Amino acid sequence: MQIVHHLPDLRRAVAELRGDCARVALVPTMGALHAGHMALVDAARATGAKVIASIFVNPKQFGPNEDLSRYPRPAEADKALLIAHGCDLLWMPGVDDMYPAGFATNVSVSGVSDGLDGAARPGHFDGVATVVTKLFNQVRPDTAFFGEKDFQQLAVIRRMVIDLDMGLEIVGVPTVREPDGLALSSRNIYLSPDERARAVALPKALAEAKRAIEAEEPGAIDAAMTSLTDAGFVTDYVSLVDAASLGEPQPGKSRRLLAAARLGTTRLIDNLDIEP
Ligand code: PAF
Repeated sequence: MQIVHHLPDLRRAVAELRGDCARVALVPTMGALHAGHMALVDAARATGAKVIASIFVNPKQFGPNEDLSRYPRPAEADKALLIAHGCDLLWMPGVDDMYPAGFATNVSVSGVSDGLDGAARPGHFDGVATVVTKLFNQVRPDTAFFGEKDFQQLAVIRRMVIDLDMGLEIVGVPTVREPDGLALSSRNIYLSPDERARAVALPKALAEAKRAIEAEEPGAIDAAMTSLTDAGFVTDYVSLVDAASLGEPQPGKSRRLLAAARLGTTRLIDNLDIEP
């Protein structure tokens, strides 16, 4: 696997990878890679494309009181995982390569960015949309792979790609979970053993709410909030939304149940699809 840190080297390496006509798939990440990220790499490889992963801890998507400085950066372990999964090229720009002096552009996707995590983390999705636009312009992939765990992020990126005629395919990959149901996340390492044991209340609350909503029983969201509080979570939201716009659920359209809640200083998110 080739590793590049500067844009001119990336452009050369991508041109070589493309050769005559190879398709290129991008897996954007912030590193601290786990089996969820590897499912993205595997899905990208399964399409027959050359696979480029990026690792960049994007300061623009962290709020002033968030975990930018302590965000895990296990570079050597990340590289080993990518090699083991057959990644062809790793793009690891520094902050100055991504945002050189004078950088002044912001990409903002209104509507789908506004509620849920957008309300709880002001500016977060502008930071995501801005860096993902840059990554797409730098790599110019044919497809890009994102996890469904960050469901609102996926919706924001899909909207942006349509609105800005970016002309690439966005593939969402199902969430990978621990055996007890907790969604894999780079932030799970912040959980103390006691918090880790209690964290399973989040996927359990969502699974029970999904069952109740699909059975058209009343009070499913309130019951989920109560079980989260009982497990020691401080809940930002549990919300049933239209799966594409993330607005009010629409009759006959796909719905998604999303939740975000904090255990101590660790914020966890998760979501499930809801059958009609
Ligand atoms: O999901 C992530 O890891 C990040 O939000 C992304 C898409 C790589 C942008 O920094």
